[in-house]
Amino acid sequence: MTIKRPRGTNDFLPADTAKWQYIEAMLRDICAQFGYQELRTPIFEETELFCRGVGGTTDIVQKEMYTFTDQGERSLTLRPENTASAARAYLENKLFALSQPVKLYYMGPMFRYERPQAGRFRQFHQFGVEVFGSSSPWADAEVIALAWEFYSRLAIRNMVLHINSVGCPDCRRKHRQLLQEFLGGKYDQLCNSCKERFQRNPLRIMDCKSPVCQQLSQDAPTIYDNLCPDCAEHFAAVRQALEAANIPYTLDKRLVRGLDYYTKTAFEILVDNIGAQSAICGGGRYDGLIEELGGEPTPGVGFALGMERIFSALAAQGDDVQVPASLDAFVVVSPGNEDVANAAFALVTQLRRAGLKVEQDLLGRSMKAQFKLADKAGAPQVIIIGEEELAQKAVLIRNMENSEQQLLPAAEVEKYIKNLRR
Ligand code: HAM
Repeated sequence: MTIKRPRGTNDFLPADTAKWQYIEAMLRDICAQFGYQELRTPIFEETELFCRGVGGTTDIVQKEMYTFTDQGERSLTLRPENTASAARAYLENKLFALSQPVKLYYMGPMFRYERPQAGRFRQFHQFGVEVFGSSSPWADAEVIALAWEFYSRLAIRNMVLHINSVGCPDCRRKHRQLLQEFLGGKYDQLCNSCKERFQRNPLRIMDCKSPVCQQLSQDAPTIYDNLCPDCAEHFAAVRQALEAANIPYTLDKRLVRGLDYYTKTAFEILVDNIGAQSAICGGGRYDGLIEELGGEPTPGVGFALGMERIFSALAAQGDDVQVPASLDAFVVVSPGNEDVANAAFALVTQLRRAGLKVEQDLLGRSMKAQFKLADKAGAPQVIIIGEEELAQKAVLIRNMENSEQQLLPAAEVEKYIKNLRR
């Protein structure tokens, strides 16, 4: 038996990675425009971080973590998400001492032991942003605007932004009681997970995927209808900011999100054509997280988006990432003459040193086959070197678009190709 990659993981081959790099570059550009700087944290953390950060009643902590004991008997976990790590890094590196807010972004692999299906993997990739140190609704609006800008640039169609407020511990306490009263008589019909949630975190019953629980909680009192004045005011300001920026949204009073740290704003961006895994992005505010991890009370807000789901969303609308061809030239050599081959290699090297993107054949192909290769690689110019050209210290340059050719002194090639770049 040959060894295969683990279930729920992917190999990304050059045809894919070119698209990933293109998207990553786009995200980095947007982050630079919005003033977010990159954070890189370890891929594994102490297990305790996620138990406390993500929350003991979540599916992630209860069922989905890749946890192992290392040789020093420490319990470590492959990160299932990156918000808890970002909060830990903020505290551990005293980023609170910097001018606030601290606006960070990250991208990389996350790990969840979920049942793999279309769009759901055990190793998947997220891009995310976190803003620490601002309780202003403008921070909520800014992170949402950043996500929206990205998907708009990618021309994702049929996307909807769902937003809700899940309140603060005060409104939660009141809502929890109302919810327990409402669901109390239906307790026996709840699924086993929701029976547990009933005591520990009844709000999350709203997020249960079981049709029975969904039915039972259908007319339950919503947290949205029970917000305290401060949370209601905050949410109204977020909505106004989105309206001012022409970002359309749907108020979704049932949206509660699957992680325990959220307070106030919660949001998801969904697309309607990629099947069950329709959430391409999710996030919200988490004003209690830093304190939960042992820091001073510090507000925070952010989101993460699934990189793989970008491609599903594009594919579902019949699109793909179009990576622009970036080659400047392809050097074609008449085969069988060592001096010519060396001159060609010297020219390729010179042009590459000058910062140009240049390719040549490495298999000793015929001229015809080299032209085919140049065409396939999307080379706008082909530089041809044969015995005659070498004798004249010249090259033949063919414009691949209109097939026009001209003889050029070898010394002028670099300048000529560079000028075409502008
Ligand atoms: P999340 O909703 O668990 O939130 O994940 C965010 C996004 O990651 C999802 O909307 C989805 O696109 C993608 N995703 C999640 N699980 C998988 C999977 N198994 N396979 C493929 N894609 C997946 C968080 O992780 C929070 N940390 C977001 C956040 C940041 N909230 C505040 N700041």
